[in-house]
Amino acid sequence: MPADLWAPTEQKLTGFQNSYGTVLFYEDPEVVKGLQKQWALFADKFPQWSEHTNAMHAHVLWTALEQDGLGASLQHYNPLIDQGICKTWGISPEWELKAQLVFGKPTGQPDEKTFQPLEDRLKIFRGQ
Ligand SMILES: Cc1cc2nc3c(=O)[nH]c(=O)nc-3n(C[C@H](O)[C@H](O)[C@H](O)COP(=O)(O)O)c2cc1C
Repeated sequence: MPADLWAPTEQKLTGFQNSYGTVLFYEDPEVVKGLQKQWALFADKFPQWSEHTNAMHAHVLWTALEQDGLGASLQHYNPLIDQGICKTWGISPEWELKAQLVFGKPTGQPDEKTFQPLEDRLKIFRGQ
């Protein structure tokens, strides 16, 4: 981490320390390999689908936490933190850490967001 980028990172880390907890999302490559063997025709696609699956889990848990009045943000400090986590909590080093969902009590409102025009991103076609 370059020294001039440390201050905002330190601030973020302090925020994480004040959170209630963090959900760690892993994929087990052995399971993915098994599926690749089982479905040889789609073997090259399974690593990508494994990422999709992980993102779906992150999304549904994030939504559930929000529905319970909590705030969350998704973070990616892997692979920096991988070894330390495996050692601390006895996680298999074979598992691949994909993302970290930090959750806690919201202390403010989310910043306003701007979006690309919806009509450029969402196409709806109706049958005759
Ligand atoms: C797929 C995904 C990955 C993200 N990864 C990071 C990340 O690695 N570090 C980070 O600070 N924020 C990351 N974010 C953003 C925060 O989790 C959070 O969404 C953001 O601070 C709130 O702004 P938003 O409304 O634009 O999502 C990610 C968000 C998404 C949806």
